[in-house]
Amino acid sequence: MVDKFYITTPIYYVNARPHLGHAFTTIAADVQARWWRKRGKKVFFLTGTDEHGFKIEKSALENNPDASLEEIQKFVDAQASIFKKVWRKLNISYDYFIRTTFKEHCQTVINVLNYLRNENLIYPKKYRGLYCPECEEFKKRSDLVEGKCPFHQIKPKIVEEKNFFFKLSKFQEKIKQAITSGEVKIEPETRKNEILKFLEKKLKDISISREKIKWGIPLPFDKKQTTYVWLDAFLNYLSGLGWRGPYQKPSDKFLTFWPPDIQWVGKDILRVHSTIWIGILLALHLPLPKKILAHCFLSLKDQKMSKSVGNVIFPEELIEKFGVDGTRYLLMAEPILNRDSPVSWELFKEKYQADLANGLGNLVSRVFKLIRISHFQLPKFDLTKIENVKKIDALMNEGKIFNIIEIAQAKITYANQLINKKQLWDLIKTHPNEARTIIIRLVKTIINIANILEPITPNTTQTIYQAISNGFILKKQLFPRLPK
Ligand code: MSP
Repeated sequence: MVDKFYITTPIYYVNARPHLGHAFTTIAADVQARWWRKRGKKVFFLTGTDEHGFKIEKSALENNPDASLEEIQKFVDAQASIFKKVWRKLNISYDYFIRTTFKEHCQTVINVLNYLRNENLIYPKKYRGLYCPECEEFKKRSDLVEGKCPFHQIKPKIVEEKNFFFKLSKFQEKIKQAITSGEVKIEPETRKNEILKFLEKKLKDISISREKIKWGIPLPFDKKQTTYVWLDAFLNYLSGLGWRGPYQKPSDKFLTFWPPDIQWVGKDILRVHSTIWIGILLALHLPLPKKILAHCFLSLKDQKMSKSVGNVIFPEELIEKFGVDGTRYLLMAEPILNRDSPVSWELFKEKYQADLANGLGNLVSRVFKLIRISHFQLPKFDLTKIENVKKIDALMNEGKIFNIIEIAQAKITYANQLINKKQLWDLIKTHPNEARTIIIRLVKTIINIANILEPITPNTTQTIYQAISNGFILKKQLFPRLPK
């Protein structure tokens, strides 16, 4: 059996361009994908864009109030290409970029709807509820804080319409059991407990169609309604592998990679994933994801970074200042698994200067310079050596990339201090044998750091490997100091 690893990010709404919050999840998934490729697994990394529904329709119409469906399609095409461009800049190594307006994806959704209807798991009902258009979700009063959606600070409106409903309630016990037994791991533990608490109350059936939203996939059994954007969106995780529906021949990719090993989600979308998504999979009799990994938010000026609040930093801005690897590193250093993390230009600059310019960059340039001026003959180094690899494997699986960065930083600090403590600049002249032994140890440490950080800062690692192979000559500074 192949050792496979299937990892997904949420698919991003195309009503806005990607900000640092979106970049965080995409880079985190990329880091894990790169690590497991490096460790020899067969990897499939899926990301993409969520392109239907009210929110998208609204932003397309803001630009062009009379937009036809073709024009809305052009709008989403342009938006999706912005995501792809930013991911390219950030060196994201996805295997497939799924878009929910792809014909094949839409056909998958239709096939699933027909199946659910045939299985008697979908029924029509008149519905009245409070709707948050930004979450694209009906809310309970108890979900609201001072009458407002806690994520978007807006008052949901009452919406009344005939909808089709999916019998989610039928799967409540099975969902609970899958989570309690660890068949589906929800991490971190606190999030799992939150979900189990939520599941103590009765789950309601959910509406899976919209009457008043034109921009969506028409229901095959009622063309006046479009598919609820979340149902449409969840199926990306299947259609991204070329799976086309329960009655269709499964694709090779699906047979190789299903189920997902890790599905990253933000804490705001964990509940829908742990209930509706799992419910749909149970209805389809498909194996469940092994792990749903939830993270908290990057915040700026005390609020979740988001388009609707208007407090965003764009990844391109960070790339301009800190380079691609610098940006990837700074985002991965954020410990946002258990709590929201405040970011600011000041904090980013400090961290860049300390960890990268004065830390790793300085270490590598000092050691390589010492080697060049000392003219020591050094042995051939094994560039693949990683110490404590099992520990890194475990941290990768838990999504604790910031802990991996801490491990690398501890080694960098230790190595930099060793150079000072041993006064290596003098030692290479006064005690060359001792100095040579220390330098060999330092090169091995640098190789180990480069390997550990490779999925986070892939270009830097390649530059270090090349320099080692080319007589320790660095063609450029790894992380130039910032201007004052
Ligand atoms: N389209 C849905 C997901 C469908 S998946 C089947 C969606 N899109 S989103 O663009 O609004 O959000 C995508 C992801 O970005 C979510 O996981 C969300 O938590 C994350 N982030 C959005 N803002 C964020 C921060 N400020 N910080 C970290 N991540 C946050 O929801």
